Amino acid sequence: MNLTVAITGASGAVFCREALRALEADDRVAQVSFVPSENSLRVLAEELGVSGRNGLLEKLLGAPAKKTVQLSDSDIGASIASGSYPSAGMIVLPCSMGTLAAIANGLANSLIARAADVTLKERRPLILCVRETPFNRIHLRNMTLSADAGATIFPCIPTLYNKPVNSDEMARQFANRVLAHIGLQQPGAYVWKGEE
Ligand SMILES: Cc1cc2nc3c(=O)[nH]c(=O)nc-3n(C[C@H](O)[C@H](O)[C@H](O)COP(=O)(O)O)c2cc1C
Repeated sequence: MNLTVAITGASGAVFCREALRALEADDRVAQVSFVPSENSLRVLAEELGVSGRNGLLEKLLGAPAKKTVQLSDSDIGASIASGSYPSAGMIVLPCSMGTLAAIANGLANSLIARAADVTLKERRPLILCVRETPFNRIHLRNMTLSADAGATIFPCIPTLYNKPVNSDEMARQFANRVLAHIGLQQPGAYVWKGEE
């Protein structure tokens, strides 16, 4: 399958890094279209010490990308801006309240907002990993609007019951949950077994 992954300027760049690494290693995935928003670059620098858009993928993946292609958020003529491109779905990870607002209201004024709009109109899975706290009523309304249009609101809330030893492991397990939701159960993902 082909997937689109967008990163926006909300806190939680490490979640996206772990998802991109997992998708690069996943044989079921043919191509990943990766779109960083302009403002995500600021957060990437703050949180991961990764600066600039040049060589961004290699810095995030820790190796040259084999199947992930970086697209510019200002390129509204990119492949994923059209419903004719065979994308299996889109993940926005993390999703800022600004990008949530654009998607919820169908602005389609950037590649991320347009690709999300296309994903919804084509009735494909759209996963919005929102991150903000606390939420105001505008945020809540935009989440409801997006969910009503077919998106899944998948907040960046990692699990603790798997006892992660550091933030990378916590982020990896969260990314595993997101990918499982889109049909890509990951090897090594923690699965709660209960008391058997
Ligand atoms: C370090 C940092 C952390 C931020 N964290 C959040 C956040 O968790 N959620 C959010 O909605 N915005 C957050 N912002 C603000 C967004 O980056 C800002 O609203 C931006 O306009 C979003 O643009 P984008 O959606 O195009 O990426 C943060 C900004 C910075 C610099």
